[in-house]
Amino acid sequence: KEHIEKVKAFNAQTLEEVEAFRIKYSGKKGLVNDFMADFRNVPNEMKREYGQVINTLKASALEKVNELKEKLEGAEEETATGDLSRPGEPIEIGARHPISIVKNQIIDIFSRIGFNVSEGPEIEDDWHNFTALNLPEYHPARDMQDTFFIQTDPDVLLRTHTSSVQVRYMENNKPPIRTISPGRVYRNEAISGRSHCFFHQVEGLYIDKDVSFADLKQTLQYFTTEMFGKSKIRLRPSYFPFTEPSAEVDVYWGLETETDYKMTKGTGWLEIMGCGMVDPNVLENCGIDSKEYSGFAFGMGIDRIALLLHQISDIRMLSENDARFLEQFKSAF
Ligand code: PHE
Repeated sequence: KEHIEKVKAFNAQTLEEVEAFRIKYSGKKGLVNDFMADFRNVPNEMKREYGQVINTLKASALEKVNELKEKLEGAEEETATGDLSRPGEPIEIGARHPISIVKNQIIDIFSRIGFNVSEGPEIEDDWHNFTALNLPEYHPARDMQDTFFIQTDPDVLLRTHTSSVQVRYMENNKPPIRTISPGRVYRNEAISGRSHCFFHQVEGLYIDKDVSFADLKQTLQYFTTEMFGKSKIRLRPSYFPFTEPSAEVDVYWGLETETDYKMTKGTGWLEIMGCGMVDPNVLENCGIDSKEYSGFAFGMGIDRIALLLHQISDIRMLSENDARFLEQFKSAF
């Protein structure tokens, strides 16, 4: 009975104390079991009361242990949560990759004039990367883009340009079409500070009735003004199998600084993309009636533009994932 009073009065500050208490009363060699062992020595007329007292002691000890545990564990949790009114720890915010920054800028500029974004697979078949684009097998212009093929299957390759996405888009959508296709492309080129075996492109496609070369030029004019803040462009005749006529687009960058001199080789003109009117054969290959529709296409390299705009001296930095390099773009967008 004395013990019942003690148990009821017990208090503890730590969970260790509670555990010691539990072992003392309810443990295998604890007091409750000791008293149980004495049961057979108790005179018969007292057995009933003795039994009741032990049961009460057993129940009180158990109740006490549970009560104290609950209280102390609750308190422990509270300390873990901490003081909710304390000022927060600053969270490290990452930086966007310069490729993403430039890509998003380009997407933003074209989406303002109604272009959507389309994407396609990086592992392509011959049809979408070459044949549909007016580059049949053995066409000499295939050499313009050194291609990575899968050794066992010449029909499987890493796309050399995102024009393949435009083929897919034309196959699956009816004109009018206004789409840009950003993505990674691969070419079997020696890696240096200026070129890599993979890089990124944004290609654009516009197909509707009566689309003319003037529309192309105006679209490019709009783009270069928005993107570079430079509006003087020139188109130099060029050749792509999938466009006719074809042109290379130069932006007048100016010759104000030494860097301008270097970048433009002293001419002030900087080449930024290829473009042209989509060859009617390509439209027909993709199921579009070339007598009813015409269109233009253009393509540019994101990496080169990123190097240019952010004054990055080596293209390999874009794929090294060096945090010291990437952190420098924290404020860029
Ligand atoms: N596909 C061409 C390239 O990768 C770029 C281009 C796209 C040129 C569309 C003209 C028209 O070089």
